Amino acid sequence: MRTDKPTRRNIFAGMIAALGGLVLNRAAHAARPTAKAAEGPFYPTRSMRRADIDNDLVRVAGLVRDAGGQVITLRGRILGRDGAPLPGHRIEIWQTDMNGRYLHSGDRQPAPRDDGFQGFGHDITGDDGGWRFRTIRPGKYPGRAEHIHVKVFDPAGAELLTTQFYEAGNPNNAGDFLFQRMSDDQAREVSMNYTDTGDGTEAVINIMI
Ligand SMILES: [Fe+2]
Repeated sequence: MRTDKPTRRNIFAGMIAALGGLVLNRAAHAARPTAKAAEGPFYPTRSMRRADIDNDLVRVAGLVRDAGGQVITLRGRILGRDGAPLPGHRIEIWQTDMNGRYLHSGDRQPAPRDDGFQGFGHDITGDDGGWRFRTIRPGKYPGRAEHIHVKVFDPAGAELLTTQFYEAGNPNNAGDFLFQRMSDDQAREVSMNYTDTGDGTEAVINIMI
């Protein structure tokens, strides 16, 4: 497991403390479907993806170097509207690297791409509907608050949901047109509350289909 330099870790711990009042226990899932959101222009097509599309976006198979940035575990469950877990469902995420670059040929930002970052990954839910990713806090992309894109497919491959996750308490959310389009409850349900597990930083979001 990657660890951060002490200074960086202290800054982040302070931020977590400041956000403490906003932390919500996502184990108590809401009784409404997760809000849908636009796919956006940077969903990587199959040919743009790395050969490695697993659920660890910090480590690209065959490379010596891990991704830069603040490593997080992002996990949760996928549940039906009745609260029942949905096993065998495919969840995909795609997001910017620490420099704010997408794994997409249409991203023309001048910053260099972090080749150590996988950019896209997927997981398949277990019997409890659980899924998990190891990734980084998303980098800043011009005009948007920091966010992670998410898609969910049923076991037959039908697309059920496209949405975006945000960072709880991030001041850039106030100026983000997609974040502001949601109700307070909807926004809370797609907001990552970072907690320090003692073994790293983690956010839990349960998705309701
Ligand atoms: Fe985006």
